[in-house]
Amino acid sequence: MLKGLIFDVDGVITDSATYHLKAWRALATSLGIDLPAAADDELRGRSRMDSLAVIMRYAGRTGQYTEAELQAMADQKNAMYQQAIQSMNADSVLPGMRQLLEDARQAHLTMAIASASRNAPVILEHLNLTQYFDAVVDPATLTHGKPDPEIYQRAQELLGLAADEVISFEDAPAGVAAIKAAGQFAVGIGAATTLAAADYNVPDTTHLVLANVIHAFQQA
Ligand code: G6P
Ligand code: MG
Repeated sequence: MLKGLIFDVDGVITDSATYHLKAWRALATSLGIDLPAAADDELRGRSRMDSLAVIMRYAGRTGQYTEAELQAMADQKNAMYQQAIQSMNADSVLPGMRQLLEDARQAHLTMAIASASRNAPVILEHLNLTQYFDAVVDPATLTHGKPDPEIYQRAQELLGLAADEVISFEDAPAGVAAIKAAGQFAVGIGAATTLAAADYNVPDTTHLVLANVIHAFQQA
């Protein structure tokens, strides 16, 4: 029986995924790296240092920098990102999402956040959504990033639920892979071609209706 919902943040609750990608692209440009468009889907959902590793791989520079140099690059990206998210407010919630959270609350579903971002709690405050969530996984406590299932398993544990009692929402291929590896029902938000591993797909959040998602969960 369905008892809880687990949400990624960037690209699911708000459009901050775009800000992450912009900041990574700005960092890459400053390093003389020309990132192909295909890099975007690989960067989505990856932890800060894993994202930087993806960029270095595209640039053919893996292993060329010290840990301290990589950390300085990650800090530079994070500073640009934090600047960008400062302007977020309650209007920055993606269309349909606040309604979905409200419907879930009415249905007495418990809710958790499974974002790899250390900035996610600040964003939830900006959006005035913190009160909807019973648990927020602290990514600093994790050993592995998405696509490893750890973050979704942790969220489920914090809610005190089993894998078949939750529905999890993602916009990233790595995130959908993490949900499926955790044995949970995955809702993919975005291009169905890149999120083909999800159990239920919508092109964007305007198509998200809780009753429809629950119906698909019950059919599965
Ligand atoms: C999320 C985003 C990624 C980002 C990661 C770490 O998963 O989708 O693009 O790299 O969080 O975010 P942070 O804010 O901690 O650098
Ligand atoms: Mg995301």
